[in-house]
Amino acid sequence: MGLHADPRPIGVFDSGVGGLTVLAELRRRLPAESTIYLGDNARAPYGPRPADEVRAYTLESVAWLLAQDVKLLVLACNTATSQALPLVRQVASVPVLGVVRPGAVAAAASTRAGHVGVIATAGTVASGAYAAAVGEADPTLAVTQLACPELVPMVEAGQLSGPIAEGAVRGYLGQLFAVDGEIDTLLLGCTHYPLLRPLIEQVAGPRVAVVDSAFTTALAAEDLLDALGGRTPHTGPGANRIVTTGDVATFTAVAGTVFGAALPSVERAAVTAD
Ligand code: DGL
Repeated sequence: MGLHADPRPIGVFDSGVGGLTVLAELRRRLPAESTIYLGDNARAPYGPRPADEVRAYTLESVAWLLAQDVKLLVLACNTATSQALPLVRQVASVPVLGVVRPGAVAAAASTRAGHVGVIATAGTVASGAYAAAVGEADPTLAVTQLACPELVPMVEAGQLSGPIAEGAVRGYLGQLFAVDGEIDTLLLGCTHYPLLRPLIEQVAGPRVAVVDSAFTTALAAEDLLDALGGRTPHTGPGANRIVTTGDVATFTAVAGTVFGAALPSVERAAVTAD
């Protein structure tokens, strides 16, 4: 197969709207590729759910994406990646990329002090996936994780700045740095947190590098397509379908803060029979 041989779209899954940060980076890096994004907003947030529920919902959502004949699946949700990636790989007939390893690689490359902080949902922290992945990238690094359950609902409500958002971010980062004051790299282990990035950077201060997995996941997708000879033969901008299992108007309002005017009209679909 030549390098440019597969016109099928890339499937991108998130529990909701936050994975659009990963989609935006993928489309920036691979503009000719078509993409189909599925947000399972009807059942979000996944972060506080038990692991078996996250696995079941992820498998149902992924089955919907696979039925759209995608050539590559990107799990843009940290909670789904940390709890369901091996299972999804078992059922998927196409390659599957998660966001945890790319994020961990970015953090390991960034730290100078050897101390990495990870903020994520309760489910992601409980899985230990980031600690394991950073350790795999460099076993000498110290990793401190903190669950930040207030941040996802805050972002969903459009609160990206202002006193409430600042109070929440200050509270969490204060807790994290109290555990390890030597942290010089803060990994945003949740799709929603890049939307709070200006505030997080301001609160963390100039000594701390803030990294996320969007850029490195897009890079991993590009490498994988090249290795498999799976890039699209088309030139020109690829199609961008965005689908939610939840309410289209609510999704569109929050999604607009990520994609701005480039947001295509959002479709609604059900991934279960009921
Ligand atoms: N997408 C989830 C994640 O990255 C955050 C939102 C949720 O809890 O569903 O962990």
